[in-house]
Amino acid sequence: MCGIFAYTGTKGKDASKVLLDGLLALEYRGYDSAGIYTPESGAVKTPGAVRELRKKIPADFKGKSGIAHLRWATHGEPTEVNAHPHSGGGDIWLVHNGIIENFQELKDMLMEKGHEFKSGTDTEVLAHLVEEKMNEVRPSFAKASEGKKSSVDQGLDGLFERAVLAALQEVHGTYGLAVQYKKEPSKLIAARMGSPIVLGIGDGEHFIASDPSPIVPHSKKVVFLEDGEMAVITPEMHTIYKLDSTQVGREITEIDWSAEEAQKGGYEHFMLKEIMEEPDAVRNSLRGRLLEDGSVRLKGLESVEDKLKNVKRIIIVACGTAFYAGQVAEYMFEEYAGIPVSVEIASEFRYKKPVIESGTLVIAISQSGETLDTLEAMREGKRRGALTIGIVNTVGSTIARETDAGIYNHVGPEISVASTKAFVSQLAVLALLAMHMGRQRGMKDETFASIAKELKLIPEKMEKILASTGAVKALAKKYAYARDFLYIGRTYNFPVAYEGAIKLKELSYIHAEGCGAGEMKHGPIAMIDRQFPTFAIALKDSVYEKMCSNIQEIRARKGPVIALGTDGDSLLAKIADDALYVPKTLDMLSPLLSVVPLQLFAYYFAAAKGYNVDRPRNLAKSVTVE
Ligand code: G6P
Repeated sequence: MCGIFAYTGTKGKDASKVLLDGLLALEYRGYDSAGIYTPESGAVKTPGAVRELRKKIPADFKGKSGIAHLRWATHGEPTEVNAHPHSGGGDIWLVHNGIIENFQELKDMLMEKGHEFKSGTDTEVLAHLVEEKMNEVRPSFAKASEGKKSSVDQGLDGLFERAVLAALQEVHGTYGLAVQYKKEPSKLIAARMGSPIVLGIGDGEHFIASDPSPIVPHSKKVVFLEDGEMAVITPEMHTIYKLDSTQVGREITEIDWSAEEAQKGGYEHFMLKEIMEEPDAVRNSLRGRLLEDGSVRLKGLESVEDKLKNVKRIIIVACGTAFYAGQVAEYMFEEYAGIPVSVEIASEFRYKKPVIESGTLVIAISQSGETLDTLEAMREGKRRGALTIGIVNTVGSTIARETDAGIYNHVGPEISVASTKAFVSQLAVLALLAMHMGRQRGMKDETFASIAKELKLIPEKMEKILASTGAVKALAKKYAYARDFLYIGRTYNFPVAYEGAIKLKELSYIHAEGCGAGEMKHGPIAMIDRQFPTFAIALKDSVYEKMCSNIQEIRARKGPVIALGTDGDSLLAKIADDALYVPKTLDMLSPLLSVVPLQLFAYYFAAAKGYNVDRPRNLAKSVTVE
């Protein structure tokens, strides 16, 4: 997710130094380009990291205030021209985190009024919109007074404030913003809708940031903006307004985190933070894609729409957790789109001699978009004539660039090596794609409507699971003795069993294996004894009775069982040693919920042993070698 940092002060500090140090503290959020603006010296931008930006800044670069940004691309490739800050073509400069959904409509309107655009970003449209509002509002201001008054005293009556407010009232989508007006250099405006913004309150200086980490070295006093709020800051003061112009009083929060803890949002590890972000990850992946008219809008697939209609077979290639997301998708596509699917481990697929007939679609799933085996497997499919699409989180990554078309996850960077929020997002995006291709093949209105309804409820249901993690934590402690763990599930939760096992083994270095519950009798059950517990996913779905029988079989051999059931199930607690529950949803979407307690279990199990959960030994986040 992009990082924003802005500064205004009277303490004689060099704003460019303050801003660059702040960007460094935000680098953990991920980045592909960076930029800085001060009213005195203008903008400097570059692809790459903060150290590239530092090299590019001239020695005579000056400023007492300014705005800065680290970009994680969503619209437009990570190039210098697409990097923030963006100008509205005049004296307005702006940095933005989020997605402006109606940017095309606004861009068309602004182009008609003569605005010229340099980049492919939605942010530049916003900068021009503020500039346009300045032009509209300006005639009602006496020319002589412009720029001279100390604006905060004017409330929202200042030209700059009114223009930003008017622009925000026309914008749909998400934003965290910092805006600067060259003619009033000591004043900055911040706003928030969906993307976090925090104000830093210093002595004779104020800050705007995406999170407290760049503020903490200067001040521990912060104010968190809420959605639909805008703040005006000067070196001496800050004032917060709602978008309906009413002023808001907000208490100052005293931060007692270190800079590193601030990056983790107060959580002990990135992994826990990222699990807690899962409801928002799913919201971000669904945003603007499920339309009221009973269709799915996937803009990245528009260019291959007709080819998708003729797809007769799907091959999914991926590695690790992304592979298990692919296996869940196999059930989705076969049930709801009637298309045969095979899911292939990318490192195998690339070296076999795959048969690719015409009408074959290869889907590459990859959080990073750089996993070498997945990339090569996709290339192999392409060489043999398949249509290729990517489901990728990292904009502009190699897989995203080389596939014929694709869908971005939009969940922001995942820092922890073990993938969590990207997995649930992959499931949400794959569900959208199955619905879309199902619709092309005659999926009924009622079926579509029921999946859409349930999909939209997933974030809330995830929040319910995440609101009470105590039971999972207690179980992780109770079973801390285990050196082995079996995970079983069926149908949609067969791959989830494997995902639960991989999480436990990669984080806590114990033996854990996934198994289709029906396959258990063909080998794994031989291992079961008092010391060998099983995690059984036994939701109230089409295979519930079968799962209950499998649990009984394990219990008959003295194996301890933790069952994961559906809220309201009174049987599981009786047949298993322990039970956890998740809310009811459609079978097809149940992995989005069932995986959450499994991720938490692995997290608490390993964290209690003091392991480096975010960076397990021998593993890497992005595997760009074979
Ligand atoms: C590594 C990571 C896993 C991830 C896999 C695939 O092994 O540790 O968490 O699932 O790579 O990564 P990708 O970026 O292609 O999704």
